[in-house]
Amino acid sequence: MTQKSEWTGRVGESWAHEWRRTDRSFGGLTDRLLQAATSSPFNQVVDVGCGAGEVSLLLAAANPSARVTGVDVSENLLAVARLRGEGADNVAFVLGDASQWEAGEGEAPDLIVSRHGVMFFPEPVTAFEHLRSIARPGARLVFSCFRERRDNQWAEQLTSVLGTGSSPADPRAPGPFAFGEADYVEDILTRAGWTDVHFSPVDYEMVAGEGTDALEDAVSYFLRIGPAARAISEMDAAERDRTMGRLREMLYAQSKEGRITLPAASWIVTAKRAD
Ligand SMILES: C[S@@+](CC[C@H](N)C(=O)[O-])C[C@H]1O[C@@H](n2cnc3c(N)ncnc32)[C@H](O)[C@@H]1O
Repeated sequence: MTQKSEWTGRVGESWAHEWRRTDRSFGGLTDRLLQAATSSPFNQVVDVGCGAGEVSLLLAAANPSARVTGVDVSENLLAVARLRGEGADNVAFVLGDASQWEAGEGEAPDLIVSRHGVMFFPEPVTAFEHLRSIARPGARLVFSCFRERRDNQWAEQLTSVLGTGSSPADPRAPGPFAFGEADYVEDILTRAGWTDVHFSPVDYEMVAGEGTDALEDAVSYFLRIGPAARAISEMDAAERDRTMGRLREMLYAQSKEGRITLPAASWIVTAKRAD
């Protein structure tokens, strides 16, 4: 389970530090998400859980006459996003919980977008109802999220290295895999007043390491980001050594053409505001 308080604290700090490598890990997905987002005209965009801002900035560049607002709960990530956005005058990054955040007077997004930022709401129906309420009639919703954990080999392999067992008590609890089941997500969106809900599966390689020492790049990445980071930091020295050995071995087995990549599986979900 990943809660908002973790994003405002330790997890957000790590992601802010590691934004280049987290953007890289989504590389095989981002173009597909952008294609879906830009498949119809848009003028006002809200990027939910914008993090370090890559998707907001790409959309702002794709349509310089559009206004893009990235909303996030993490000040650390917003600070990175603002730095990256210096010079882009059609994008703003604002602090807020997207399940309650209100657009400015007279503003209403015609596109609500998110790259893996919508699976952390404790009350998802209420959150998506709220997003519907701030959107323009006919607005589009376009987001990505991981499919189920068992389809995401990167997570399964990390779990087996950690020896922590693969199934959390509630697979729908807020966290990276909370939106893995399409029927469940469709039900949330429909109850929240969204229609024409469509799911496209995207399989891609999550790049974990590359460069002169791709293996160490991948090891250090997983020590900062994702399920291994916390588990390893809480181990005693002997257990940590054994786990690090297994982690290196597993990652080494995934080397391809000078890079370490692990199979990842996401949905791109699209929907329309029901009027
Ligand atoms: C997996 S990260 C994705 C970040 C970014 N969209 C990207 O693709 O790099 C999830 C993001 O959602 C943000 N987040 C979590 N709960 C949120 C909420 N209720 N409102 C706004 N942002 C939230 C986190 O702070 C984090 O930046």
